[in-house]
Amino acid sequence: MQLSKIRLNENKEQIIINRILSDESIDFTKENSLPLETLMAYYRCVIMEIETKFRVLNEQLSLQYDRNPIESIKTRLKSWESILRKVRNKNIPLNLESLEKNINDIAGIRVICSFQEDIYQLLESFLRQDDVKLIKKKDYIKNPKPNGYKSLHLIVEVPIFLQNETKLMKAEVQLRTIAMDFWASLEHKLRYKKNIPEDEAEIIAEELLECSEISSALDKRMQAIKNRIINN
Ligand code: GTP
Ligand code: MG
Repeated sequence: MQLSKIRLNENKEQIIINRILSDESIDFTKENSLPLETLMAYYRCVIMEIETKFRVLNEQLSLQYDRNPIESIKTRLKSWESILRKVRNKNIPLNLESLEKNINDIAGIRVICSFQEDIYQLLESFLRQDDVKLIKKKDYIKNPKPNGYKSLHLIVEVPIFLQNETKLMKAEVQLRTIAMDFWASLEHKLRYKKNIPEDEAEIIAEELLECSEISSALDKRMQAIKNRIINN
């Protein structure tokens, strides 16, 4: 009884906070529409720069090895709604400088590779480039998340060349194999499925973890097959 009362109060508080913040964010959005549009355009530019860097590497490596290490590249600009949600959840001050400083994944580039070895080869070539500055690296391939999630994440800073200035922009790069992407896409869909009973959710989590292990084993076997073919 008491617990449900507390929960109710928490919900009420959350609703009030949401309202205040949404008013604040509506004002901020209205008052800064041009600078915000400009900032978002800069993030689109850094997405283009980074995507091109990977396309160039793919082109060159495919000449060298006669196959494409990159299967596909997906890019996305974080929606304004998701930015505001992050501002609220992480208590980030709502101004332009703070968004640039505190939100690293407004520009997102996902590079999907055929094999795990391709990821590390691309990573090395990408980070060796003079104008790519590594801010943070998280290797969830060597150290998967407890739920089984695998990918290699980078936060980088890359220049964009504008009419009268050069601007350094941050972006999040995720590198994964097709198998890792397959798992992550399904897990992401299931995560937002509501009303799953607790015991059922536990079984699903265990199943997902096992599927992640199966897909890693598949990645390893496919890599071994590729190496056999190449060495023959
Ligand atoms: P946030 O972007 O605030 O979550 O920062 P973080 O420091 O927690 O980032 P992290 O590098 O752990 O994850 C960033 C992104 O990776 C997420 O926005 C997702 O796209 C992806 N990701 C991380 N963990 C998972 C996971 O368990 N499942 C799936 N499907 N995707 C994940
Ligand atoms: Mg994110």
